[in-house]
Amino acid sequence: LDNGVARMPPMGWLAWERFRCVTDCKTFPDDCISEKLFKDMADRMAADGWRDVGYQYINIDDCWMARERDDQGRLYADPERFPSGIQGLANYIHSKGLKLGIYEDYGSLTCGGYPGSQGHEATDAQTFAEWGVDMLKFDGCYSNDSSKAIGYPLMSAALNKTGRPIVYSCSWPAYEGGLPPKVNYTELGEICNLWRNYGDIQDSWDSIIDIIEWWAVNQDVLVSAAGPGRWNDPDMLIVGDYSLSIGQCQAQFGMWAILAAPLFMSNDLRHLEKEKMAILQNQGIIAVSQDKLGVQGKRYVKKNGIQAWSRPLSEGHFAVAILSTRTDGTPTEVTFTLNELNIKQATSYALYDLFEMKTVGKFLNKDLIVTYVNPNGIKMFRASPVSMEIIEEFDVWLNL
Ligand code: GLA
Repeated sequence: LDNGVARMPPMGWLAWERFRCVTDCKTFPDDCISEKLFKDMADRMAADGWRDVGYQYINIDDCWMARERDDQGRLYADPERFPSGIQGLANYIHSKGLKLGIYEDYGSLTCGGYPGSQGHEATDAQTFAEWGVDMLKFDGCYSNDSSKAIGYPLMSAALNKTGRPIVYSCSWPAYEGGLPPKVNYTELGEICNLWRNYGDIQDSWDSIIDIIEWWAVNQDVLVSAAGPGRWNDPDMLIVGDYSLSIGQCQAQFGMWAILAAPLFMSNDLRHLEKEKMAILQNQGIIAVSQDKLGVQGKRYVKKNGIQAWSRPLSEGHFAVAILSTRTDGTPTEVTFTLNELNIKQATSYALYDLFEMKTVGKFLNKDLIVTYVNPNGIKMFRASPVSMEIIEEFDVWLNL
């Protein structure tokens, strides 16, 4: 969608995966869906370096509303959990140099059973704009296929009419199987800034691998759908939650950068291990994610539990990911060439290891490159074109 926002995959924080629909603030005062939760996250975003590396949006998900609309048919936040209202919260978040996202659903109800937007699109868009909302996630529970085909474009037009730039995130394709002919990615790119293509992520490695596999199998459809202002969304980052090892955290973060995915963390920024924080703030990986060419990466190799991906970046650079789903205990020796990852515009490249943060060598595009990947782990490289003269012609073996 050409509305001037989300020209690169948006980055921020989204409540759902980690905090769900907890509304009992007496028992769970720190974790319930309340303005305190979002203010706490905004405080951490500003104080702990997140904003400085590009994270910008603090996004509310389901279960923020009162159970009914007000006398004028307008939505309003649950007054006990959001005593300042959404406008007050938006002011607070803007004062921290951040932006606020909100959640609604095109249906009679949201997925969590709160009032839906069907029949109220213009009023709701206007309400969000007046509150100072900067992003809308528009979900698809409690409506059928034919009404969604009307509702998603209708809300896009209603948001546009407010005159406020609002990032528009559409869950529509996830409800239609995510693939043509049922899903029309040309139309989505015209009306939405990003869209959920597939099922909800859960706090598990299996969930991540399932999503990555679906992205790989359908990559020809998905890669051409993506670009500046229009992104496929494999769902939230679960780095920092209960399930992933450090290697699995690197793998999700690295792969989401290869996929040109929106980077919305759903974790507790108040309680985050230092190593996981360092992964999420890795500026080399963030630069891959935010590359201005805006082209999504592809998988070129899948063999014996090892997959190799590459993503074209601006100025002839590439990102490379070697991902392992192996479980046999010790690092796997992987040999690859840049050629087989479709990296051959230049004859030679310098490789930089984005997690180890060191240069690993210079390679002709036909050279055999050897690296070691941990079980359920990843190696990520940036390949930068370098001139031919400084390369000697032999096969280079790395021992990292
Ligand atoms: C759906 C969405 C999730 C979340 C919940 C909220 O399942 O896909 O991301 O928004 O609804 O109820």
